[in-house]
Amino acid sequence: AFEPQQQSGAAPILVASNRGPVSFSSEDDGTLTLRRGGGGLVSGLSAIDDPTAVWVCAALGDADRQAARQAPDGRLDRAGHDVGGQAVRMLDIEPGTFARAYNGIANSTLWFVHHLLYDTPVSPVFDDRFRREWESYVAYNTAFAEALAAEAAPGAAVLVQDYHLSLAPELLRALRPDLRIGHFSHTPWAPPEYYRLLPDDVAAAVLTGILGADRAGFLTERWALAFADCCAAVLGAEVDRAALTVTHAGRTTRLGVHGLGADADFLRERAHRPDVDARLAALRESVGDRRTIVRVDRTELSKNIVRGLLAYRHLLRTRPEWRDRVVHIAFAYPSRHDLPEYREYTAAVQRIAQEIDDEFSTPDWQPLILHVNDDFPRSLAAYRLADVALVNPIRDGMNLVAKEVPVVSDAGCALVLSREAGAHAELGEDAVTVNPYDVVETAEALHRALTMPDGERADRCKRLAAAATALPPQQWFLDQLNALG
Ligand code: G6P
Repeated sequence: AFEPQQQSGAAPILVASNRGPVSFSSEDDGTLTLRRGGGGLVSGLSAIDDPTAVWVCAALGDADRQAARQAPDGRLDRAGHDVGGQAVRMLDIEPGTFARAYNGIANSTLWFVHHLLYDTPVSPVFDDRFRREWESYVAYNTAFAEALAAEAAPGAAVLVQDYHLSLAPELLRALRPDLRIGHFSHTPWAPPEYYRLLPDDVAAAVLTGILGADRAGFLTERWALAFADCCAAVLGAEVDRAALTVTHAGRTTRLGVHGLGADADFLRERAHRPDVDARLAALRESVGDRRTIVRVDRTELSKNIVRGLLAYRHLLRTRPEWRDRVVHIAFAYPSRHDLPEYREYTAAVQRIAQEIDDEFSTPDWQPLILHVNDDFPRSLAAYRLADVALVNPIRDGMNLVAKEVPVVSDAGCALVLSREAGAHAELGEDAVTVNPYDVVETAEALHRALTMPDGERADRCKRLAAAATALPPQQWFLDQLNALG
């Protein structure tokens, strides 16, 4: 009954995301080195043992572009790269178009909207530059839709990921009405009154783009309902909040909630390898018998690292009994440095860290261990050592660190958790909850977590770990696929 309007490919299952499961770097002699990425989506897709599945992603840098160009149709597996499991098609999008779509619209506009990050008296400004960025975002989404249309078998299931690709579902449906299309948002969704600061046509296009999917997935019900509210407010769509459906222009899109969990098997195995043990020994050496407060984040505006440090400083100022008895281990690894806001934020984190050091450190005690370079085994070592995990985002789709630390922690950790993280819906009962803007409250929460009786802390940590692993990535992925029918 299906009549694809374009010649179809052979893939029965496709994933599309900006950042793919592999990336390349080029060595001095010009050879390309391949690196596999981690994360829920990569583990999730591994549940599909289907070599005909295709993952479509963007070439993110020069080395990726070179690899994509050397591959027939951009299919890396056919160019002799071992990408493991599934075929990866990397799109070589013109660098200027990519940069305007990725930095300008995805990361400076949509990310800022959904995480409530604008400094509204001065930003955003929707000017002619913004319009050029928006045109590029349309072109970038069109390139994905065309690639997916070419790769998909008749009736294939296509899982489109995240805010980079909000237009792709509608564009793809126009090319291939036979496909079953899902979209999944890994971010929060803004409430309508904030979402509507976008220009009207852009606000509408993003919503109708996602509504082009048969099913739109979110990490929590809160974000799904916010999306539905935006559809009602901006498009006048008909929303059934109980059934989680949105009907617009004669089509109904189902909303789904899939709270991605931590990958317990992977984490527990990985956290006990020798490289992690070595880093744990080094951290223990610097901490001694003091208590630890651990945080691990991308240096990301929404992660609220600066207020976290201010809260720690407030704790040391107002409760001097903690001096020389606690160490804050903060890993803030680099992210999105093409954006000036992120470079400035990184500098702000380093500035306040220096102030804390100047104010409190003694010859025997370093109150804060801050690392700004990425080292995954060192992060796992800190997870194992944590007495308290601090996760205080302004807003976060889920926050997997909140879920990972309790799973890996050696002695059982307490979790100080922002009520604005998606993970709070599942972990709130056993966490110490904070309003992320309130540094006095956050300092008190740290004190409470540090003084929690050992037995209570261990019990809570067990329950946190159980809740955190309720939906492992493989099942999370299969659930979305099954829900597409
Ligand atoms: C968030 C987004 C992902 C993104 C990741 C890292 O988790 O939901 O789509 O890949 O941040 O950001 P980056 O810009 O480095 O891909």
